[in-house]
Amino acid sequence: MSDILTLIQERRSVRGPFDPERPVSMSDLQRILEAARWSPTAHNMQNFEVLIINAKEVLVKLGEISSPASEVFIRENYDQLSFSEEELLQKKVGILGTMFPTAWRTPGAKFDEVARESGPSFLTDTIKGSPTVLIVAYDARKRAPASEGDVLGFISLGCAMENMWLVAQSLGIGCQIMSVFSGDAVEKRVKHILDIPEYMKIAFAARLGYPVSVGVKYVRVRRDVKDFAHHDRFGARLNPVEVAPNAQR
Ligand SMILES: Cc1cc2nc3c(=O)[nH]c(=O)nc-3n(C[C@H](O)[C@H](O)[C@H](O)COP(=O)(O)O)c2cc1C
Repeated sequence: MSDILTLIQERRSVRGPFDPERPVSMSDLQRILEAARWSPTAHNMQNFEVLIINAKEVLVKLGEISSPASEVFIRENYDQLSFSEEELLQKKVGILGTMFPTAWRTPGAKFDEVARESGPSFLTDTIKGSPTVLIVAYDARKRAPASEGDVLGFISLGCAMENMWLVAQSLGIGCQIMSVFSGDAVEKRVKHILDIPEYMKIAFAARLGYPVSVGVKYVRVRRDVKDFAHHDRFGARLNPVEVAPNAQR
């Protein structure tokens, strides 16, 4: 396994299609689950259940779920977009708008025009042939002790996400988070198909697999440490010390 900082820098979202005929082995899935098992959680609540879906017929059923983007998503997504690689490199935050349909990137576009251009959308467009989908669910009736809005519970679920993603990366397995699974209407259908009890919520889903086309890279940006680190008081910048090559790429 590569050194941990390099692995963290190399972990990435893989958004292209995965080879449906190249499943992720059960032993690799066990390693990914082991990473979830040892993730830190508030009060060691271990507030997650992980569903591994690799039966083709179940993936097909999930794929048939309608998943149109909401007006709120399109509006708030727009705020995070850059419209060229140069703009993204300069901003150092957000994502490249070219990965979305043109209408989603048009300021002031009316939602019904956007919906018309995007056409009907189904989960299969997001799953993109992946042989494995992983879903993390939690019991919405519980929360981390005294944690308003269960913020500590959600942070814990994020720890499980990162642990699993890093192990997938270390095994050469592509991973993309699919937040669309947690949207109300989609979540309801997914829960029905997978027999997930009513009181559970889907925290996130991820698709796992081996990219069909390797070597497709896109610009990934991050702020520099000095842009977010403060020393002894808020606003006092930390003197930068080079600890690793700048992984911006
Ligand atoms: C909570 C969460 C939700 C995310 N949802 C999605 C998603 O729905 N689709 C997607 O392609 N990426 C999703 N991502 C991935 C981020 O967009 C991605 O991590 C970020 O743009 C940085 O890119 P990188 O993963 O390649 O470093 C999500 C990440 C997190 C942590």
